Amino acid sequence: MTVSETPWWKDAVVYQVYPRSFADSDGDGIGDLEGLRGRLDYLADLGVDAIWLTPFYPSPLHDGGYDVADYRDVDPRLGTLAGFDALLADAGGRGIRVIADLVPNHCSWDHPLFRAALAAGPGGRERDLFTFRPGRGADGSQPPNNWPSAFGGPAWDRAREVPGQPGGAGAPDEDWYLHMFDVSQPDFNWHHPAVVAMFEDILRFWLDRGVAGFRVDVAHGLFKDATLADTPSPERSHAPSGYYHQPELHALYRTWRKIADSYPAATFPGPRTAVGEVWYDKPSTLRPYLAPDELPQVFNFGFILSPWDAASVRAAIDATYAMSDGSQAPWVLGNHDVVRPVTRFGSPAAARATALVQLALPGSAYIYQGEELGLPEVLDIPDSARQDPTFHRTGGRRIGRDGCRVPLPWSTSSPSYGFSITGSGHSSPAWLPQPTGWGTYSVEAERDDPASFLSLYKAALRLRRSHPALGGTGALRWLDADAAGPSPIRQPEGTDGRPPKGQLHFRREPGFELFANLGPDPVPAPPHREVLLASSPLPDAGGSALVPPGTTVWLAV
Ligand code: NOJ
Repeated sequence: MTVSETPWWKDAVVYQVYPRSFADSDGDGIGDLEGLRGRLDYLADLGVDAIWLTPFYPSPLHDGGYDVADYRDVDPRLGTLAGFDALLADAGGRGIRVIADLVPNHCSWDHPLFRAALAAGPGGRERDLFTFRPGRGADGSQPPNNWPSAFGGPAWDRAREVPGQPGGAGAPDEDWYLHMFDVSQPDFNWHHPAVVAMFEDILRFWLDRGVAGFRVDVAHGLFKDATLADTPSPERSHAPSGYYHQPELHALYRTWRKIADSYPAATFPGPRTAVGEVWYDKPSTLRPYLAPDELPQVFNFGFILSPWDAASVRAAIDATYAMSDGSQAPWVLGNHDVVRPVTRFGSPAAARATALVQLALPGSAYIYQGEELGLPEVLDIPDSARQDPTFHRTGGRRIGRDGCRVPLPWSTSSPSYGFSITGSGHSSPAWLPQPTGWGTYSVEAERDDPASFLSLYKAALRLRRSHPALGGTGALRWLDADAAGPSPIRQPEGTDGRPPKGQLHFRREPGFELFANLGPDPVPAPPHREVLLASSPLPDAGGSALVPPGTTVWLAV
C-alpha cells in the first residue's frame, strides 16, 4: 500500500468527547451537541483529526448514556438528529471526522424491546431477544449462574423488580434477566438473528449519516455461551469465558467490516473504521479481532494499566508491538472510565512527559477531553452527587468514574467556568459539581500561557503534522539501556556506555529521537541538532541540554 492509500485512521489523533461534560449551549447544566458544535474551532486549532463521541442517544442515564433506549436518535437533552447532521457537516468542514459510540452488548431497560419482553411474561417470544431464565434453588430465588456484573454484584436480577414493570394478571413472573453491567442494562441475546439484523441496520443508519466509524463498546462481550454454565471463578476476568471472547464474535465482525467497507473510501470521511473496546488477558486473545477482515482497530490499554516508570512504559509499548502496532491498536492515556493521567501518574509533570511519549509513537492516538488541559481527577465529589452505578452497586467501596467526567472549564470565572455558554448569562449548575479553582485549568487560562498543558499539546500535534518522522505508521527503534549494543547517549562518568535504567530513548526516521528521563537525576540529552519540544523547561548546562527527572524531549538529530 502506498502512503496515499494509507487509511486516515492509521495515524489519526482522535479526541474523545463525553458530550454531557464538554460544553452546554442551553444553560441546563448538561453538555450537548450544539455546545460541541460551538467549540469545533477549538478542536480544529488543537489539531485533532477526528472526534469519538460517547453515547448521545436517548437514555435514562443510569450509566452515563451506555444504557441506550433508542439507537437511532439523539437524547433531547443533547440535541436532535438535525443537530447531529449539522455537527457532522461543520466538523467535516474543518476536516474533522466523527466516530460514533456503538453499544451492542446491552440496551437500557427503557428500550421498547426490553419493555415488550417484560410485558410478554415468562415464555414470551419477546424474551428471546434477551437472556431470561428461571432462578436456581428450590424456590428459584438464586441467580441462574455465578456470572458477576462488571459493576459489582451478580449479573442477574429479577424481571419483576424492574421499576415500572406492571404486575400482570397471569402467573407470577419468576424469571431473572442477564445484565453484565448495571441492572438497568439488559444484555441482548446475540444468538438471535433479529438482534444481528437490528444492529446491521443501526450501523447503516449512522454510516448513511456520514459517521467515519464506530467505537464498539464491550466488543469482546456480545455473545454468551449458550449453556450459561457457571464460570470456574466468580471473579470477573478478561480471559476467555462463557461471557467474554466467544468464537461467534469473529464472524460478526467480518460482516460488520464488509458493511463498513461498502461505504466509499474515496471521499470524506474516507475509509470507515471500527475501534473495539476489547479487554483481554494476553495478546493471543486479542489478535484474532485484528485479522484483516475483522475490526480495523482495538484500543491499546497498555498506558492505562502501566505505572509511571520507564520499564513499565517500555513494556507497555513492547507488548503492543508483540500483538500489533499503534495503527491498529491506538495509544490511549485515559478515557471516561479511568482516573485521569495527572492523578494516576502522580503529577502534572509525569502526565506531560507521558503525553509526549504517546504522541511520538507511530500510529493513532486518542486524547480524552481535558487531558490537553491537564485536568486532575476530581476526588471529592460528594456522595450525594455521584452518578456512577459502580459507586452505588458497591455501596461506595468502588468510588466510580465520576471524577474524570466533571464538566470542562472553558473560562476562569464565569458561571460553571464557561461550561454553559448561554447568551443570557443564566445557567444551571453543571450536572456534576466542578471544584473550586477549576478555572485555573480552563482554556482561557491556558490558551496564551506557553508553559501550559494546552500549549504543550498544541505544539506536539503541530509537530506531529509537520515533522516527516512523526505521525505516520513508520517503525521506531529503541536506543536505550535494554536495546542490543551500547547506546549513543553521552553517559555520566563511570557507566559502561549504556544509559542508566529509568530512561526511554527511541528513534524514528528521518532524524527524530525521543528521550524520556524517568530516573531520579538530571541527565544530558543525547546528541542532537535541536530540541523540538520538551515536557518541562530544560536548564542550560553550558550549551548542552540537561533533561530533568520526569521529562520527555523530542529531538531533531
Ligand atoms: C465501557 C464504557 O466505556 C463504560 O463507560 C460503560 O459503563 C461500559 N462499557 C458498559 O457499557
